Amino acid sequence: MERTNFAAYDTDDLWRKDRDHYIHPWTNFATFKDRGSEVMAEAEGVYVYNSDGDRFIDGIGGLWCVNIGYGRDEMAEAIADQARRICYYSTFTNLTTPPAAELAAKLAEIAPANLNHVFYGTGGSMANDTAIRIIHFYFNRLGKPAKKKIIARVDGYHGSTYLAMSMTGVAFDHQGFDLAPGLVHHIPSPNPYRRAQGMSVDAFRDEKVADLENKILELGPENVACFIAEPIMGAGGVIVPPPGYHKRTAEVCRKYGVITISDEVVTGFGRVGHFFASEPVFDFAPDIITAAKGITSGYVPLSATLLSDEIYDVISVPQAKGALFTHGFTYSGHPVSCAAGLKNIEIIEREDICGHVREVGPYFEQRLATLLDLPIVGDVRGKGFMLCVENVADKETKALFDPGVDIGGRIARHCQARGVIVRPVAHLNVLSPPLILERGHIDTIVETLRESITAAQDDLVREGLWKG
Ligand SMILES: Cc1ncc(COP(=O)(O)O)c(C=O)c1O
Repeated sequence: MERTNFAAYDTDDLWRKDRDHYIHPWTNFATFKDRGSEVMAEAEGVYVYNSDGDRFIDGIGGLWCVNIGYGRDEMAEAIADQARRICYYSTFTNLTTPPAAELAAKLAEIAPANLNHVFYGTGGSMANDTAIRIIHFYFNRLGKPAKKKIIARVDGYHGSTYLAMSMTGVAFDHQGFDLAPGLVHHIPSPNPYRRAQGMSVDAFRDEKVADLENKILELGPENVACFIAEPIMGAGGVIVPPPGYHKRTAEVCRKYGVITISDEVVTGFGRVGHFFASEPVFDFAPDIITAAKGITSGYVPLSATLLSDEIYDVISVPQAKGALFTHGFTYSGHPVSCAAGLKNIEIIEREDICGHVREVGPYFEQRLATLLDLPIVGDVRGKGFMLCVENVADKETKALFDPGVDIGGRIARHCQARGVIVRPVAHLNVLSPPLILERGHIDTIVETLRESITAAQDDLVREGLWKG
């Protein structure tokens, strides 16, 4: 295949068709009908190209997912080969395919100790919905039907199905939509940057752990099924909790018989230097891990809900003679997706991509931290290849710009004009590039961000939106 044939694209035609017929996720309809969408047409390594042939460093890995980078021939071949052998077959009731079986065993091998059982889906939201349905089934089977409530966190993001969005704790994402009533209860975000002035990080951690215990006691442990948390919050602002937070919250959950779900949809598959972050980075062993995105590096959709032996042992006892475990999707264990998952893990292991992130990640963190001398950069945070810049109107008070200023969007547009894509999330700019990024790319990203933040500051002063 000719990799870069930009003559094949009629940008205006694509732009119009897209604007007139495609309802995009997370669309700002105030601007969409005028601006439409940029058409991203080709990609290679850490670069993406729009349909006019302009090249960008992809600072966001598609959407936290293209971990091994773009344009891998061996991935394309694994996908095509599987599509030719058997493109699809049901895995309902006593049927399987070779890649579904092989990948399940491989996931059990790379997951923390007793997470030996895999349920497949096609995205992170589905993985989290599956976790909740299975936990409810589990407590029903144990004769504890009241144990149904879910504790989640403000700033947590768990997806966009009805249930996953109900667990999501980003108020901005809830506007105008409905949520599952009474099921999910949110506790405060463990964001150290926003802790009370003068409070130590340790005291802040203790307070956030106590928030969980207090919530369990308030709801009644006999009513609380699970606690869901991302090891590092992603879409809610790349929030790394204080040291010891996850270990301590897991202990609280164990004390009250509350199941822990570690949502590793973003942190999984190398983003912070390990296949899964929970145990090696945060020193806790969840009962369930949910994974998606990097599990195939975004080449095709796939998700996994990994369950402990203890949970499996309960849910796998038949309810009655002939009764089924009635959860599942047509595309659970899709053979093409599973073949891509196997090839993806093979590449990550062969090229020691986790090792690369552990080696280069600290450089990325240090280089990004140099932006803290800019007047509007209030915080730079994250870990490995999952980082973020928080822009504020006043560094002293940490006050935010008015949302209408769209500071994150302004900076992202300046970056894009300079050949780097960063993701605006409200007042933040998020980075989650392919994990094969080298130091030279990191230097370019950081220099581009510096120029772009400075340009945005100048714009705001010129427009009378900020005093400088
Ligand atoms: C932590 C986390 N969980 C779940 C999801 C939902 O995944 P999906 O969009 O594949 O449904 C996301 C998506 O960004 C996520 O970041």
